[in-house]
Amino acid sequence: MAKFLLPKDSRISKGRTWPEPEGAERMKRFQIYRYTPGRDECPQLDTFTVDLDECGPMVLDALLYIVDHIDPTLTVRRSCREGVCGSCAVNIEGTNTLACLTRIEDLNKDTTRIGPLPHLRVIRDLVGDLEQLYAQYAMIEPWLKSDTPAPERERLQSPEDRAKLDGQWECIMCFCCTTACPSYWWNSDKFLGPAILLQAYRWLADSRDHAQGERLDQLDDDFRLYRCHTIANCTNACPKGLNPSKSIAASKRMLARRG
Ligand code: SF4
Ligand code: F3S
Ligand code: FES
Repeated sequence: MAKFLLPKDSRISKGRTWPEPEGAERMKRFQIYRYTPGRDECPQLDTFTVDLDECGPMVLDALLYIVDHIDPTLTVRRSCREGVCGSCAVNIEGTNTLACLTRIEDLNKDTTRIGPLPHLRVIRDLVGDLEQLYAQYAMIEPWLKSDTPAPERERLQSPEDRAKLDGQWECIMCFCCTTACPSYWWNSDKFLGPAILLQAYRWLADSRDHAQGERLDQLDDDFRLYRCHTIANCTNACPKGLNPSKSIAASKRMLARRG
């Protein structure tokens, strides 16, 4: 009988427990995924204790406290710390979300586990590799394509047409949705996934864009769009309250009407 074994470095082992901060009165423990590819070591979960009186209120603040006060080698990605750049997306206790928008006081376990977004190649610790996702983003050609010459000031749009972009333009490309989608886990090389499909619909819905036919041709494929089986994990995962599942359904309807 065939036997399938997980690669040696796919098992997570118990890592180091770092000392508690001296003199701290209010503390919070985090178990954080540590992994450096290329080393002959399994990923491990290190335990850190944060002094809440020396740390800001958000999980990102706790991660930065750890980098500044405990272990400077902990690798984290972040930029804006305001929920607009999408870089600090991680998995907190099984939920993909933004570390900078998650309050420490809302975490209800004594020890909170934090890992990278699932099903991405790990560059190091909490940082996943977004290269394929950005290549897929480039594939949908996310810019305005117009048949008319550029106007002197701006391309006008009625308030009704502008409203069709609400729920699309707010996406911050954090990929919490895509990395929560089972269809993407199994077919990430061919299926575009909810974040990119939401972006694709953003251009399909834009009254100023004249490449709707060409854009629909790009999506009309067994995998790129139709590997979405309406599982809707994407919508549940979005920390900005967007609904990629609805945008994907709207693209499918456009294709059906055209067909
Ligand atoms: Fe992030 Fe939401 Fe955009 Fe997905 S739809 S990339 S979860 S902001
Ligand atoms: Fe995946 Fe969302 Fe479709 S979770 S299957 S992209 S509805
Ligand atoms: Fe920018 Fe969290 S740091 S979204």
